Amino acid sequence: MTNEQREQLLFDCLPKGDHREQVLIDAMRYSLEAGGKRVRPRLVYEFAALCGGSDEAAAPFACAVEMIHTYSLIHDDLPCMDDDDMRRGKPSNHKVFGEDIALLAGDALLTLAFETLTSDKAAALSGDKACRLAANTLARYAGVTGMVGGQVIDLKNENTNAPLEVLREMDEKKTACLIQAACELGCIAANATEERRRAAAKYGECIGVAFQIQDDILDCTSSDEELGKPVGSDAENSKSTYVSLLGIEKCRELVDSLTREATDALSAFDADTTSLHDFALALARRTN
Ligand code: IPE
Ligand code: IPE
Ligand code: MG
Ligand code: MG
Ligand code: MG
Repeated sequence: MTNEQREQLLFDCLPKGDHREQVLIDAMRYSLEAGGKRVRPRLVYEFAALCGGSDEAAAPFACAVEMIHTYSLIHDDLPCMDDDDMRRGKPSNHKVFGEDIALLAGDALLTLAFETLTSDKAAALSGDKACRLAANTLARYAGVTGMVGGQVIDLKNENTNAPLEVLREMDEKKTACLIQAACELGCIAANATEERRRAAAKYGECIGVAFQIQDDILDCTSSDEELGKPVGSDAENSKSTYVSLLGIEKCRELVDSLTREATDALSAFDADTTSLHDFALALARRTN
């Protein structure tokens, strides 16, 4: 499947036609179509392919993860959270549609994710058992014990100088969990073995924590234009981050060691892992 086809499948999940609640669908579409790097869906497709699965079977899972990620960004930017006015190079969702609709667009993307994951089409492609497992896995990684819980740790540690173990748990939950979910969902779409799923989870956890540390570095070193979101947001909100605790140089070393840990985990696969190996390195070197 080409990237264009993958994008089209994502947009096709949105409700069609004229609706009294059209503004909600417009707001959902606005944030989904604003782009983004599509790291999480790519991981679903990569792990599915690595385990012998098809792009078609992986697609509903890939779309679901990207919907949850996009919802998390819409809510993350709200004035009651990080209060950021730019996202993916455009005004944040609430700047265009208002806080009420932005909140609801996030809610609706979250529920659409599970509708997509458990649809007849998804079940026909991967089987009922895989869909149930995927839904349960994604719910656990996105909810209290995952992304949403991590966002709470983030908010409650503004102005605190949180210690290393709190930062690790925060980054694992708010960011690595969804990335880990993407890796595992790829394996589930391909009906891979437990052992492979565990290796994918390890890779996802390590690149996930590295991803958030790199995000925190870029918040200090990049520009609004390059990132497509406001730099200096963490300092402005007095966030506790790896960068605020350890400084940029130590954080760069951590990103590199976590990336090595991630690529080591790929040895559990017999098939060619070059693409996932290179992707981990590219994420560690990313500039946006
Ligand atoms: C931003 O994620 C939020 C974090 C978890 C750091 P991405 O950097 O993947 O955002 P998009 O999808 O490319 O916009
Ligand atoms: C957000 O972390 C993680 C999410 C779950 C959305 P950040 O607050 O650092 O993400 P950005 O920098 O706004 O993208
Ligand atoms: Mg945040
Ligand atoms: Mg933020
Ligand atoms: Mg950030």
